[in-house]
Amino acid sequence: MSRPFDLAFVRSQFPAFAEPSLEGWAFFENAGGSYACRQTIDRLTNFYTRTKVQPYAGSGYPASTQGGDEMDAAHARLAGLLNVTANELVIGPSTSQNTYVLANAFGENWAEGDEIVVTDQDHEANSGVWRRLADRGIVVREWHVDADTGQLDPAVLAGLLNARTRLVAFPHCSNIVAHVNPVAEITALVRAAGAVSVVDGVSHAPHGLSDIEALGADIYLFSTYKTFGPHQGVMVVRDRVAGQLANQSHWFNDYSRHKRLVPAGPDHAQVAACNGVVDYVEALHDHHFDAPETALVEKGRRVETLVRDREIELVTPLLDYLRDRDDVRIMGPSDPTIRVPTVAVVPSRPPSEVAKDLVEHRVMADAGDFYAVRLLEAMGQPADIGALRMSFVHYTSPDEVARLIEGLEATL
Ligand SMILES: Cc1ncc(COP(=O)(O)O)c(C=O)c1O
Repeated sequence: MSRPFDLAFVRSQFPAFAEPSLEGWAFFENAGGSYACRQTIDRLTNFYTRTKVQPYAGSGYPASTQGGDEMDAAHARLAGLLNVTANELVIGPSTSQNTYVLANAFGENWAEGDEIVVTDQDHEANSGVWRRLADRGIVVREWHVDADTGQLDPAVLAGLLNARTRLVAFPHCSNIVAHVNPVAEITALVRAAGAVSVVDGVSHAPHGLSDIEALGADIYLFSTYKTFGPHQGVMVVRDRVAGQLANQSHWFNDYSRHKRLVPAGPDHAQVAACNGVVDYVEALHDHHFDAPETALVEKGRRVETLVRDREIELVTPLLDYLRDRDDVRIMGPSDPTIRVPTVAVVPSRPPSEVAKDLVEHRVMADAGDFYAVRLLEAMGQPADIGALRMSFVHYTSPDEVARLIEGLEATL
């Protein structure tokens, strides 16, 4: 049985909503990084207070063992939520760093003339590192968006795949266009071509941590600082492709899946604090649904649906308002059911000025290219002018959305 979405409960999980210096401010830059839930903050404080020693010490002193156990638990629980094994889940410093490492790890094993496919819908993190492989003789093929809608068409990808294709990198959804790509359909195409799929889930993850098995992604990435957690990057590397990646860490770390793709070394406290993300999903689940003993993956699915339905309700008035204005271009679909609530627009006034004016209305939003320069240009929007982006998540209140609309009405 499920209970209606409880906003008061949700907001009580985020200390930022009780913070006097933030009172009265409506936060619409969640795609840049979300507020942290109290579970994350507690986990971090706890680690720094009680177990800030070298984890996994061979001598087995208690603080060390406990710290290591917490890091292991973070891997295992996140993996459970995502329906993969703990061995397949790697936690690195950020998604940009993770893709950089991945590109080098794959590149070492490819031959001149091998091919990859990249899009112009991606954030640069899942684009530039792959394109750079052209310097090593890799052929880079472009899967272009539609210039009007900014959307990717899987039929176009089908025409780009061939026997030399090694990898296809694409986003679960773009951080500007926000249309949710048909990931399972795309990964099936990629698999049939004998290539590896690398899905940037950073923009989607704040709206639901997905069942990676169901998505069929070989590699799936997201950043926990956008999913109410610490500043880390999670990278799922499925067993079936792990052998294609060359070790990027110290030679003696080659044995460990958690170490060989994290040359930076783990940030122990933050890895442990990733438990907070799972704690929060569990808290949301257990508050809204019966059966607290449910498997994590099922909890994740239910929470994803709960959050998604709520976000559709929240974003609808904003999209309706924007659609009715003839001086605003919505950079993405205006149908709330096929997108996440990251709404980028090009107004007739410079986006950066509108963003500044919104601050007068105590609205925190921003304008720019959001590291998706190629996408803006493909859609005919000069990247130096950029777009105004308003992004929210399930903890945003209807009143805050109303305030945003009032602010837009006054400033546009
Ligand atoms: C869609 C998308 N992909 C990748 C990244 C890069 O993530 P990170 O900051 O963890 O490197 C971002 C960051 O904003 C993003 O929005």
